[in-house]
Amino acid sequence: MAKAKEPYFDDGANVTSQTRANFSGKLGYVLATAGSAVGLGNIWRFPYLAAKHGGGVFLLMYLIIAVTFGYTMMMSENALGRMTRKSPVGAFRAFSKSKLAGCGGWLNAIIPMLIMPYYSVIGGWVVKYLYEFTRGNVKATAQDSFFTGFISDDASAELWFIIFALMVVVVIFAGVENGVERISKIMMPLLVLLALIVAVYSMTRPGAIEGIKYFLIPDFKNFTWMSVVAALGQSFYSLSIAMGILVTYGSYMKKDVDIEKATGQVILFDSGIAIMAGLMIIPAVFAFSGGDPNALNAGPSLMFITIPKVFASMGLGRWAGFIFFLLVLFAALTSAISLAETSTSTFQDELGWSRRRSTLAVTLIMFGLGTLSSLGYSSLSFVKIFGMQILDFFDFATNSVMMPIAAFALCMLVTRCVGVKRIADEVKLSSKFRMEKMYSLVVRYIAPIFVIIILLSSLGFIG
Ligand code: PHE
Repeated sequence: MAKAKEPYFDDGANVTSQTRANFSGKLGYVLATAGSAVGLGNIWRFPYLAAKHGGGVFLLMYLIIAVTFGYTMMMSENALGRMTRKSPVGAFRAFSKSKLAGCGGWLNAIIPMLIMPYYSVIGGWVVKYLYEFTRGNVKATAQDSFFTGFISDDASAELWFIIFALMVVVVIFAGVENGVERISKIMMPLLVLLALIVAVYSMTRPGAIEGIKYFLIPDFKNFTWMSVVAALGQSFYSLSIAMGILVTYGSYMKKDVDIEKATGQVILFDSGIAIMAGLMIIPAVFAFSGGDPNALNAGPSLMFITIPKVFASMGLGRWAGFIFFLLVLFAALTSAISLAETSTSTFQDELGWSRRRSTLAVTLIMFGLGTLSSLGYSSLSFVKIFGMQILDFFDFATNSVMMPIAAFALCMLVTRCVGVKRIADEVKLSSKFRMEKMYSLVVRYIAPIFVIIILLSSLGFIG
């Protein structure tokens, strides 16, 4: 089909591309995307999964999956975004007018709108802990009842959620280059520095060495297929795949940025922080629990109950805890920003709204749905959806059901409507496509199967 007949297709030469916001260059793109990728998933989910699924074996598998499957999905989303200069709905529509593609686009666009509010509620919890550690209120946070007491108090949970949500909204109001890019350029390097400090602190505690060995030395006796499935699910979540984010950030990428290199750097950044998180958390928890891997429970209890206890029991724990929660805050903020930015972009592109109006709409969604999730542990705790609390329900619906389906839709769009060749042409605008053969193989055959495995496992049919 000739380009002229494709109203949404933008080769970079028309007006849309001049008026569309851009990252200033590769660094801006890489740090903003790494900001999205590095989040709560790296800090509590990765160390827990690694400990549960055989330490070094899991790590190895995770890395292989990230550079094959993760890389392929990221490249597809980025190239689609840059090619069409649109957020997911427009990007899907550019290549197929079918209803099914329309649904695929909207699915990718709605996911971030649903994740953003509840993710920000958890962000609020992080700010609260940071505040307590700043005040030196370490002993109180280490009490078993502290966390449940806090989240079941309406006013206090809502207050901290609002503080976090306001930080996100302010950045989005400031725009792509002035807000998202600028904040990422400040927070991401700082995050690396803080992670280094906490990792060194944790690894030098007495008794930590057992934890380091457990995490890093592969023991192939521990290999099970479930480790592969878990690594697959983690790579998907951790790299922000199927949330519409990478399509949107790709659409802000200039035509001369080397997509392949930039994607590789984001994967490196994200995996590096995940490994550092393992080195921060596993040795400290091991030293604290006397080597009991069960102490590394996943979920909020690791971050908000176990970790404060671990820090409270150690020398300089107040400062280590302060630095730890500050780095978690940076990680959570930049991820929440990417969700809000993607939602804003969808409103601008699809409804033709101004940036201001779109940001206002996103703010309303954030406060409306976020308040529901926040009160779900207190006044609204009687509300159960499929037996889940409100926050858990949003988490389940997006991560376990919608995201794998959205990723499947993406694979189908690339292979059936766009064609691998067009993706390759887009990549080659700025560099050679070094991994083209692997990309083509994975996107055609392997990724769709992997995505179905993720869906089955998160729905509980596998494992
Ligand atoms: N990649 C994020 C993480 O590892 C997941 C995420 C991204 C969640 C963006 C929300 C928003 O935590």
